[in-house]
Amino acid sequence: MLVVSLSGSPALKSRSGVVLEHAGRWLRAKGVDVTTLRIRDFNAEDLIFAHFDSPQVLDFIEAVKQADGLLIGTPVYKASFSGALKTLLDLLPERSLHGKVVLPLATGGSIAHMLAVDYALKPVLSALKCQEVLHGIFAIDSQISYAENEQGGELDEILQERLQEGLEHFYLGLQHRVQARQKQAGGHLRLAL
Ligand SMILES: Cc1cc2nc3c(=O)[nH]c(=O)nc-3n(C[C@H](O)[C@H](O)[C@H](O)COP(=O)(O)O)c2cc1C
Repeated sequence: MLVVSLSGSPALKSRSGVVLEHAGRWLRAKGVDVTTLRIRDFNAEDLIFAHFDSPQVLDFIEAVKQADGLLIGTPVYKASFSGALKTLLDLLPERSLHGKVVLPLATGGSIAHMLAVDYALKPVLSALKCQEVLHGIFAIDSQISYAENEQGGELDEILQERLQEGLEHFYLGLQHRVQARQKQAGGHLRLAL
């Protein structure tokens, strides 16, 4: 099972990034291969000028193609998901998320925009033909603590529980996808024989 973990935060030290790190650790412990990508590691010119053919963008498109599912983390910026993340999602071919499971994770300063994933990110994922966007997990800043100069960070107990619940659904979705793929491959093999 392969999962792309995509951080949409431009910040070096990022709260949504901490949530993604916890999620990635949980999945790895289940034997899932997790490829970690961060928007801040992409060449800004490729994103702003929509360089669909840049090697980094092509690698990203290929990683998404190979993945069974995606974790997409984003800060809430101006009542929506980050604009930087949108510039990257804009570069994906139209059916890129067809058949993939997506778990969105968002963090914001307050609960005022806790529905940003639902009204802003989900329509974009639908436009990329994702049929299985799971209930997003939203956290406020006070639920995530980290030290500026250290790796990692901690989630409060309520967030840990909600994340675990979301990840269990995600993992189940991944298993269904892998089973469906194996069944399809078996069908093709029978037809070939
Ligand atoms: C430019 C900017 C705009 C923001 N707009 C909002 C907002 O509209 N609503 C909100 O709840 N938080 C807003 N915040 C707070 C961030 O969403 C919050 O601190 C988030 O956890 C940051 O995530 P990150 O550390 O992963 O970048 C904003 C922060 C910045 C820097």
